[in-house]
Amino acid sequence: MLSFLAAGSAHGPVNPWVALAYLVSGILFILALRGLSHPTTSRAGNRFGMVGMLIAMVTTLVTHDIANIIEIGIAILIGGLIGFTIARRIAMTAMPELVAAFHSLVGLAAVLVGWAAYLNPDAFGLLVDGGIAPVSKIEMGLGIAIGAITFSGSVIAFAKLSGKMSGSPIILPLRHVINLGTLAAIIVLTALFAMAAPAETLPLIVALTVLAFIIGFLLIIPIGGADMPVVVSMLNSYSGWAAAAMGFTLGNTAMIITGALVGSSGAILSYIMCRAMNRSFISVIAGGFGADGGSGGGEAREQRPYKQGSADDAAFMLSQAENVIVIPGYGMAVAQAQHALREMTDLLEEQGVNVKFAIHPVAGRMPGHMNVLLAEASVDYDKVFELEDINSEFAQCDVAFIIGANDVVNPAAKTDKSSPIYGMPVFDVDKAKQVFFIKRSMGGVGYAGVDNDVFYMDQTMMLLSDAKKMVEEINKSLGD
Ligand code: TAP
Repeated sequence: MLSFLAAGSAHGPVNPWVALAYLVSGILFILALRGLSHPTTSRAGNRFGMVGMLIAMVTTLVTHDIANIIEIGIAILIGGLIGFTIARRIAMTAMPELVAAFHSLVGLAAVLVGWAAYLNPDAFGLLVDGGIAPVSKIEMGLGIAIGAITFSGSVIAFAKLSGKMSGSPIILPLRHVINLGTLAAIIVLTALFAMAAPAETLPLIVALTVLAFIIGFLLIIPIGGADMPVVVSMLNSYSGWAAAAMGFTLGNTAMIITGALVGSSGAILSYIMCRAMNRSFISVIAGGFGADGGSGGGEAREQRPYKQGSADDAAFMLSQAENVIVIPGYGMAVAQAQHALREMTDLLEEQGVNVKFAIHPVAGRMPGHMNVLLAEASVDYDKVFELEDINSEFAQCDVAFIIGANDVVNPAAKTDKSSPIYGMPVFDVDKAKQVFFIKRSMGGVGYAGVDNDVFYMDQTMMLLSDAKKMVEEINKSLGD
């Protein structure tokens, strides 16, 4: 039926229909990324991506005869079932570690494809005059190296994010020299591999693979918990470049396009997140931040006086306010308080109170975490504002309503040079007339593990409770 799409080797002449199908899927992927950049268009974006992937997969399957279609079908079924089960079970708050785990698989796939192509170049159409062409060996070497770095780096990121390993940086002496030396050795080995005679290539590709696995590990262990968000998006970028390199080895244009899109969007996201946390990208990669903080690390803190209030107090003062700005954070996600929060917004608006939401770029545990939860609770997009668009409004606001956020409102980021979050732009909640701060206890800390002066300000009322429970009580009081 699809005989016009002749089966061919990876590097044979490209069938124009195949090229057209890959071009269409590439355009659909670009439309997907564009759609995903705004909540109102994100569903359409997702659909574009799904259709693009379907076209790319079907085209690849019907135009290659490397593997048996039944075997591929079984593999897709098993992988699909595992992915479906994990996606159903995973908590939203565990998403970053899941993403890191999935990146490791992309990296491993790139290593395996590279090795398969090296061991069986004929099946990949790479055999020229009894050997592999130098340019193909460079693509192969790069694919294996980037894939191995992505794999071991992602495994460490997964272990750190899931708490299976300490989030504190592990600083080796002379680490910059060791890292630069290892990277240089990988580049030299790739060049030697490309130039070597067929009989001499095996030790070179083995050494290259082993060193790349080691450097992935070395690059991520010195990165502290506070910088982990950037690491995840950086590994996302690496996994894209690994896929693009695989695309060259397999002669698959769709993979090159997709890999380049993932690679560049991951790199842009890493840059945006570095800016949001006021970190230089190079210093994050070089590692060593957060040595004194680290994820979830508690520390002995002096007892300072603070004011505690009840849901009734909060409801009364909220209903008297003119402007309220809600700052959601990780705790709102843990408590799943977004629906109750939407209800609170509706009740306050019925009483003539103007409510806005302020979203920090690194609030929660993954990019867009708060936006997704608020969209799920049908909070109007027009009420949701980014840090730079709303920060100047705290001076005119009656109540800053902090729900499960902590680091993103911590003024130490502006004043305390020794703080692990120093330099990160934060919300100016101290300028609001009143601050309501929902968290479960005075002992709990945010991701960076540091105390927060906002708890002890004159205008702050601590509302110590689970976020959902507290907001439901406020709603009850507002409704009475
Ligand atoms: P955090 O600073 O982590 O603070 C979370 C707050 O929620 C804590 O005060 C905690 O105090 C409270 N909390 C936890 N469970 C709660 C519950 N059930 N009910 C009420 N409160 C609860 O959150 P944030 O302000 O959103 O900051 C995000 C941090 O995570 C930043 O440091 C950021 O760099 C880091 N990070 C971000 C990402 C991305 S990409 N967004 C990824 C990884 C890390 P109690 O324990 O006392 O309740």
